[in-house]
Amino acid sequence: MTHKEALLEKILSKKAVAGIVGLGYVGLPLAVEFGRAGFSVVGFDVIEEKISQLNQGKSYIQDVPDTVIAPLVEKGLFKATNDFSKLAEMDTINICVPTPLRKTKDPDMSFIVSSTEQIAKYLRPGTLVILESTTYPGTTDELVLPMLEKSGLKVGEDFFVCFSPERVDPGNAKYQTRNIPKVVGGITPACTELGAAFYAQSLDTVVPVTSTSVAEMVKLLENTFRMINIGLVNEMAMMCDRMGINVWEVIDAAATKPFGFMPFYPGPGLGGHCIPVDPFYARHRGSLH
Ligand SMILES: NC(=O)c1ccc[n+]([C@@H]2O[C@H](COP(=O)([O-])OP(=O)(O)OC[C@H]3O[C@@H](n4cnc5c(N)ncnc54)[C@H](O)[C@@H]3O)[C@@H](O)[C@H]2O)c1
Repeated sequence: MTHKEALLEKILSKKAVAGIVGLGYVGLPLAVEFGRAGFSVVGFDVIEEKISQLNQGKSYIQDVPDTVIAPLVEKGLFKATNDFSKLAEMDTINICVPTPLRKTKDPDMSFIVSSTEQIAKYLRPGTLVILESTTYPGTTDELVLPMLEKSGLKVGEDFFVCFSPERVDPGNAKYQTRNIPKVVGGITPACTELGAAFYAQSLDTVVPVTSTSVAEMVKLLENTFRMINIGLVNEMAMMCDRMGINVWEVIDAAATKPFGFMPFYPGPGLGGHCIPVDPFYARHRGSLH
């Protein structure tokens, strides 16, 4: 049996052990969905306080109530740790670490690099690694993959690598991790197939794409689109204010157009903490071409 066949079998039978690196707004809800689907999940983080809270069944993320995390801990389906040697026991590993900007407004890759270093150290044949942190196109195949290949293992045959953008919208009661369609693109077709099969066990809809770069760019398109449109409507609000026009009435009436228009609403700033950050990731890569 090939490594791909063996891993697919473990995924479909839910015998795969799922590792999540980074237990924040993205990683913890994902861990919960994998646990709810029946996978055994191990969460890795560097903050001891978070680890001890989670192992007592207590959550620090609003969208993940204690009543959800505690039963998973009790049933042994979820545990948190800072012992990265346990990565060697994982069949799948999702990387959900921060990707902020440096002072220069260039991407700060340090969290992705340090977590990938740990994964590379313990990588064994038959593992699926999926990067979820928002980043510039090319990160997965040009930065993450070479670090993992130092193990001597061959991607697409011995181990598998994907990028899957995270679209979670903290506080959104209607759309949460499970019912937000999940885009996933692999380095090779076998990687995409395994990534799609894995998410399909826990999430409602999976959208496979042909490469990791496409999947990376999807996220940057979505967030750049939001940033520009929120910026535009904020400008409109200022113009309307000067002209004595009610911008809310304008937006509501414009939103009746059944095609080619989507309402955005004015407010302070440009959305959550990602929206003003992510377009700089697009700019970083775009300016290299
Ligand atoms: N929060 C959102 O709404 C949202 C939505 C979509 C995408 N994203 C993206 O997802 C990624 C994660 O964001 P987040 O909001 O979950 O961040 P977060 O700060 O809430 O969580 C990140 C976690 O990673 C941990 N961490 C840092 N370095 C680590 C390491 N080397 N090993 C293990 N754990 C480590 C931190 O301690 C923290 O618990 C970012 O790229 C972000 O842009 C976030």
